[in-house]
Amino acid sequence: MQRVEGKVCLVTGAASGIGREDALLLAREGARVVLTDLNEEAGRAAAAEIGENALFIRHDIASESDWQQVIATTLAHFGRLDVLVNNAAILATGSIEDTSLELWQRVQRINGDGYFLGCKYAIEAMKKTGGGSIVNMSSVAALGAMPMFCAYSASKGAVAAMTRSIARHCKEQGYRIRCNSVHPDGVNTPMTQALAGGQPIPQELLDQDPMNRMCAPRDIANVVLFLASDESRFVNGAELRVDNAQLISGI
Ligand SMILES: NC(=O)c1ccc[n+]([C@@H]2O[C@H](COP(=O)([O-])OP(=O)(O)OC[C@H]3O[C@@H](n4cnc5c(N)ncnc54)[C@H](O)[C@@H]3O)[C@@H](O)[C@H]2O)c1
Repeated sequence: MQRVEGKVCLVTGAASGIGREDALLLAREGARVVLTDLNEEAGRAAAAEIGENALFIRHDIASESDWQQVIATTLAHFGRLDVLVNNAAILATGSIEDTSLELWQRVQRINGDGYFLGCKYAIEAMKKTGGGSIVNMSSVAALGAMPMFCAYSASKGAVAAMTRSIARHCKEQGYRIRCNSVHPDGVNTPMTQALAGGQPIPQELLDQDPMNRMCAPRDIANVVLFLASDESRFVNGAELRVDNAQLISGI
């Protein structure tokens, strides 16, 4: 028995980094996977790697009509939706002093509105087929303090608070839909490589565990797989930090 056999999983931002790894791992563990992204070429390539159990849909997560179309296509193609991994997001650098209102609003629109819309339409679909699991990709930026990521931190904080609200709502409504957030620190993906001038992170740095702040996308995908599977059936409204103890201070 594979860990998510028979489940239909939708992963946003599946063309790159963590989302790509999530999609590949969920498929290896028996799921049928809908991969969505703005990047059509890389998204289609990831879906092709999986084969007939995958479907790629071009998707701007900030667009309500795109979400309606993505959910409708998922139901038409695979008949149900069991898991949503709200993963696509953008990173913007800037403290409170050097973030413009325009940049702030762009980040909240994608990282905030995009996740809200995903949860809203996924719940509508999942409650008709007996439940499901929503995994919202947040960040340690939602929990600690990152002066250089003001708008991004706020967007990830909103995701964490929304996740708790949704978890309680679905429990009170008896929907059997769980909703959890995942909070990575550094993950070696194009998002963080962009901060290092687009250079790959040197392997020596990645191998320096436990001083290391950078994990591999697979380290996050393993947590997503657990939350997607029924092994986590009693985990609901949780904030799972995946940061190798970076955020907790020693005493
Ligand atoms: N990499 C890290 O260190 C790190 C740490 C904490 C949290 N995260 C979170 O993990 C998630 C994945 O990050 P990643 O590092 O894999 O990033 P990434 O940049 O490698 O991948 C993000 C993907 O999202 C897509 N995307 C961006 N805007 C979109 C939109 N409006 N609609 C649809 N798709 C869109 C991009 O095309 C890209 O394929 C994000 O939510 C990020 O905030 C990453």
